[in-house]
Parts: sequence; C-alpha cells; structure tokens
Amino acid sequence: MLEASWQQDEQFCTPNPSVYPHQWLWDSCFHAIAWAALADDRGLAELQSCFKAQLPSGFVPHMRYLRPNVARGPLTDRSSFTQPPIYAHAAAELQRRGWALPGPLVRAIERGLDWLWRARRTDDGLLYIVHPWESGADDSPRWDSWIGEERYNRRTYRRHDKRLVEQVVFDENGVATASAAFIAAPAAFNAFAAHAADELAFLTDSPEWAARSRSLAQAIDDVLWDESTGLWRDQPIIGGGPSAAIPTLDGVFGALVTEHGDRAKRALSQLTDDRRFGAEYGLAYLPPSHPSFRPNSYWRGPAWPQLNYMAYQAAKRWNDVSMMAYLAHATRRGVLQSGFAEFWNPRTGRGLGARPQGWAALAAALP
Ligand code: GLC
Repeated sequence: MLEASWQQDEQFCTPNPSVYPHQWLWDSCFHAIAWAALADDRGLAELQSCFKAQLPSGFVPHMRYLRPNVARGPLTDRSSFTQPPIYAHAAAELQRRGWALPGPLVRAIERGLDWLWRARRTDDGLLYIVHPWESGADDSPRWDSWIGEERYNRRTYRRHDKRLVEQVVFDENGVATASAAFIAAPAAFNAFAAHAADELAFLTDSPEWAARSRSLAQAIDDVLWDESTGLWRDQPIIGGGPSAAIPTLDGVFGALVTEHGDRAKRALSQLTDDRRFGAEYGLAYLPPSHPSFRPNSYWRGPAWPQLNYMAYQAAKRWNDVSMMAYLAHATRRGVLQSGFAEFWNPRTGRGLGARPQGWAALAAALP
C-alpha cells in the first residue's frame, strides 16, 4: 500500500492517491514510522521531505501541494497552517531502529518545534492552534461551541472552516499566527508537542528541550486536567465554550507526558472500558453514550489508527504491557477488517473514509 502511493520525485506517500493527493505533515511522519518498522529507507526520505516546505522562521506547513489546490491561507504552494509535530517522535523511532539521522534533519526538527514555542505560546505556557485543521482532528466535537450548529453535518463544518480561515491573522510570510474567532490550547496537540520536545531532548541530549518538555507537561496538568472525567480537556482562548471539555480520545494523550502516574492510569484505563473508548475494533473517538457519538462519521466516533498508535506510546511510557498488547491487537484487527481504512466503525470494523490510507500501515509498527 505504501509503495502504491509513493511519489518517487518528491520522496513521500500521499495519504491516499485519489482522495488526498498532496502531502500532509502528520500523515508523512506516521508513514515514516511505518516504513522504518518495515526496515525500509524510505522512512528517512519521507521524514526529510516533511521539511521541504519549512520556512526560514522554522514553521512547518500542514500540507504541501503537488498541484494547484484550494488556498488554505495566503500561501499558494503549501498550507499557511501547521499540524501536530509528530516529526520528533518519528525521528527518534528511526534512530532507535538503527538509522543515523542527518544533522540538517535534526536541526530542521529543532527549528520546527522552536517556532511553535516562539509563535504559539499562551501566558499559561501552553501551545495554541488557530484553526481546527491544526489539531489534525478536523471535525472533533471539541470544536462544536465555535461552530455553533445544533447538529453535526460535515458540509456545514466545511463552510465554518472557511469562515474561520477568514478570521485568521497571517504574518508577513503568510503564516497563521492568531485568529479573531478561534484560538484553543488542545490537550492532544499540547501532549504531542511536549512528547516531541522530550524526543528531541533524547536525540540531541539537550537539557533545554528536556526542560521545555517538562514545563509544557506541567502546564497541561495545571490547566487542562479535568478531575470529573479523568481526562485532559482543551482550553478555549478566543471563542469556544463547553465543547472543549467533551470526552474525546484526545483527552487521554496527556498520559504521554504527565508526571502524575495516577492521572495517566485513570485516563489509560478508559481505553479498555467499552463505556468509554474501548470497543471491539477500538479505540472509539467518543464514548458511545455521548449524544455526539456517530460511529460511522469522520471525527464523531470512529477509530483512527494514528491515534491508536499514539495511545500505544502512552501505554508504553507507563510500561503497561497488557494495555500495549490490547492496543496492538485492536489496531491490527481494525486495520485488517476495514481494508486499511483511514478510519473505521469501532463496533464493526467497517472501513470508512479513504481506503486504503497510508497511516493504516502503522499496524506494522505495533508488535
Ligand atoms: C483529514 C484528517 C487529517 C489528515 C488528513 C489527511 O483531513 O482530519 O488529520 O491529516 O485527512 O489524511
């Protein structure tokens, strides 16, 4: 599947050659991990290709277009927005699997993270996003207070996406830096970034990145921990409202970086509980009892392989061997049953979205 979507000239895989015929940042990071698990050098090539569109400021765009595409901000050959910085973890995985990382790649990763820390930090020390796209979870119920519609409808969300782009403030390089309508510090984006800083500290032996990781983790715990759900919630900064606390799978990823073992355990235990995120072909993105749960609908309930993979990393951090085995098993079952789908129904494994989709190959990276 990865070979079928490999772009030899550009050295990366499109997530799906017809549905997603461009480069997406976090998808390519996950492809790199899958390639490496398959002992294929294209992992290193794909990870390096993520930085072809990096700007001198360090900003890494969420998409790079292979041909003319609808504009996502003032930049025309790439997106003006970013996406979760999975590249540091991908690089660390490659190194752990025996690849020597070129110096320029490690420096590009450091500049990418440094841009987030410089351009996107709140007074609380959290990182913020200025459009739902930047979370990777485009239509998550956590954005519903900003969208303001009674019922979820994908087409309506697309219309609001455009409206929110119109409210964004872009810097002199065409990069999104603020918004008059949507700013949020999401639990998952922050956890992935703190995890990335820790992985960069591992790669470079840098005490500064280790300290940045720890203080971001601390801010996540101080500001976002929600005792009532046993999860980390999002923090609305401009706009938004109660939807920021909806119990989605995003709320578990604080376990990647928290120092509180009890919190990590409470959050992770919800992955096997079928009243929460556990399911036959889990993980469900929302608990089935939640009024927004729709098991066949995009970011409203289905299981996503890249999130399963990150949940596995969180379980691994706490050395929860049985949780790791459960997540690897559920992911393999879902990937196979769904036909390597972009996402699938967590109860039946029915494949949804694009099929096949590159990041389903992450099953190869879960032993
Ligand atoms: C969808 C997903 C996003 C992903 C992209 C390409 O937009 O919401 O996370 O990067 O597809 O797979």
